Amino acid sequence: MASNTAPPDPGPFQQLLPRGGTDVDLASVYAYPDDLDRPWVRANMVASADGGAIGPSGRSRDLSSAPDRRVMGVLRGLCDVVLVGAATARVEGYAPVRPRRTWEPLRRGRTRTPPIAVVSRTLDIPERLLAPGPEEARTIVFTTASAPRERRDRVRARADLVVVDGVSVGPEHIVNALGERGLFRVLTEGGPHLLAEFVAAGLLDELCLTLSPHLLGAGSPRVVAGGPGTPGAPTRASVRNTPVRMAHLLEADGNLFARYLRE
Ligand SMILES: NC(=O)c1ccc[n+]([C@@H]2O[C@H](COP(=O)([O-])OP(=O)(O)OC[C@H]3O[C@@H](n4cnc5c(N)ncnc54)[C@H](OP(=O)(O)O)[C@@H]3O)[C@@H](O)[C@H]2O)c1
Repeated sequence: MASNTAPPDPGPFQQLLPRGGTDVDLASVYAYPDDLDRPWVRANMVASADGGAIGPSGRSRDLSSAPDRRVMGVLRGLCDVVLVGAATARVEGYAPVRPRRTWEPLRRGRTRTPPIAVVSRTLDIPERLLAPGPEEARTIVFTTASAPRERRDRVRARADLVVVDGVSVGPEHIVNALGERGLFRVLTEGGPHLLAEFVAAGLLDELCLTLSPHLLGAGSPRVVAGGPGTPGAPTRASVRNTPVRMAHLLEADGNLFARYLRE
């Protein structure tokens, strides 16, 4: 989910719920709430029809499609910051977001691109994220005081480094630090481990889920993952049942695009 190039125009989107038509303005139906006074955390994830989040290539791109990339592009254009776990940044080859002409009306009064914010214990951050071009925003890196000192020094020289005490960066630390920077429209693109931590902390406001017409079988993780083996990840004791409300359901080329808001 890391493409920065403008995708080709997919077929039309139709709005299934609330009942609409085919003239769907994606920027309007995915607009963040007005007048935010705190960070609003939106996740954008893609799953197969049987609930898998990672395809045979080890990436989510096996599930993606032109309409999915179109929605992802609009969501990036609307947000103030793109937040990812370091594994997603490494596996999906994340790079600083490049400006798009179609974003100009969406980003009026803001930076031309949203920065990428990466969460990492090891500080094994893709080199490209630490070398933004002149039109690209400086990367924000969240880590802990237990990260190797020489890596902290190296990253601090090239990125906005936020160091948190302890062995894990809590979702609340991330939300607070982004809020202090005035980055209220948060878009997390996962991965499943980082997303699980936000759900467990009750800090996910919105899930934008693409249901892609593929079956991946039992070996593929869900869009949320985690377990006792992962430091800081949720355990069975943190399973919670949070009601969400469907704000809309769109369809394009057999893909369903659901937008769920926390009640
Ligand atoms: N279907 C989808 O929509 C979708 C979306 C995104 C990704 N994916 C797929 O998911 C896979 C990667 O996701 P993932 O769940 O394995 O990993 P992830 O959530 O992207 O990243 C996990 C890593 O983030 C860092 N991290 C997470 N929580 C942390 C915390 N509380 N404190 C400090 N660091 C923390 C650690 O980085 P370090 O290892 O650097 O310490 C950890 O190893 C890839 O295969 C990707 O293609 C799918």
